[in-house]
Amino acid sequence: MPVPMLDLAPQNAAVKQKVLDGLAGLIDRSQFVLGENVKGLEAELAQYTGAKYAVGMSSGTDALLVALMALDIKAGDEVIIPSFTFFATAGVVARMGAKPVFLDLDPVSFNATGKLVEAAITPCTKAIMPVHLFGQLAEMPAIMEVAKKHGIPVIEDACQSLGAKGWGKNAGEFGDMTGCSFYPTKNLGAFGDAGLTLIRDDEKLGAKVRRMRVHGMEPVYVHHEVGMNGRIDEFQALVLRAKFPMLEGWHEGRRKHAKWYFERMKELTADELLLPKEVIPEGRHIYNQFTVRVKGGKRDALQAHLKTLGIGSAIYYPIALHEQPCFAYLGYKKGQLIETERACQEVLSLPVYPEMTEAMREDVAKGVLSFFGKK
Ligand SMILES: Cc1ncc(COP(=O)(O)O)c(C=O)c1O
Repeated sequence: MPVPMLDLAPQNAAVKQKVLDGLAGLIDRSQFVLGENVKGLEAELAQYTGAKYAVGMSSGTDALLVALMALDIKAGDEVIIPSFTFFATAGVVARMGAKPVFLDLDPVSFNATGKLVEAAITPCTKAIMPVHLFGQLAEMPAIMEVAKKHGIPVIEDACQSLGAKGWGKNAGEFGDMTGCSFYPTKNLGAFGDAGLTLIRDDEKLGAKVRRMRVHGMEPVYVHHEVGMNGRIDEFQALVLRAKFPMLEGWHEGRRKHAKWYFERMKELTADELLLPKEVIPEGRHIYNQFTVRVKGGKRDALQAHLKTLGIGSAIYYPIALHEQPCFAYLGYKKGQLIETERACQEVLSLPVYPEMTEAMREDVAKGVLSFFGKK
């Protein structure tokens, strides 16, 4: 049977009536900006993550951007980020006029490590922005130790990883601030763009982010900084609150599929295909993506094979950020971040959404196994 990469229909059906009822109330109240749902969502997600403050933003991109703005990042500053991530992580750094300093990755977790970060620090480093890619935390204790030693603030990019855990903590409890995305494909997705900035514990920073979301204004028409209009819509907050009670179940549904894939595809050898690994102590990978590495230069052929069977897959990401045309001015050379470049050639993400049936995941696994001549 055809298996799409992602099907939001069952999830949307589960909240449809609640959202429609909420929308009716919202239209009656006509408070479309920063109303009771935004307040409620912020309180719920601060509690969920353990961060002291939560500020609803218009997107994950703006959630990261406002964090850099609150740190007064400016031209000439360097911000350390991975090269293997979605473009927004680097886009916000460049948008501030600062210089993205790209890291290579740990080939097992796809994420940054303390060692990689330490090697990239210079006197110009003004922030470190590790990404918790695909739903698994970066090596946060080691990264925080390096950051602390050098007195550099850390912004977690948890756009794919709200709900991920490690070392006894949640995504959002390590760095000074954290950016989250509610883009519809995330484990918690809005009906459009939305995001959230978490502030771990600094009250002043929390107040600044909240102010900068509305043009640095406090009280009305008094502007302390040049901020932005980065507000989350009341409607999106309403949708997210309707979905939030189901989030833990969805994480666990994804994890159940992942565990089943591990067992079903275990006979694939290391020179055929590598399954993702959960490498974090006391960790929880939330599998926003189930990303395998296809060896022997066969990734595109496997993807084509799956396509003929009606099975969706996706390549996150085919081109590393240090190789993007818009960052040519930074002067990175081919081969400079070798593990990242290799990952771009090998990665393939398979369907893992929670509502997939057992028959669907069997078809995905069978499709992969048949490519390698296995059952
Ligand atoms: C790692 C990462 N960073 C940043 C973003 C940006 O989030 P948004 O699309 O909500 O602006 C995303 C989302 O796609 C992401 O995956």
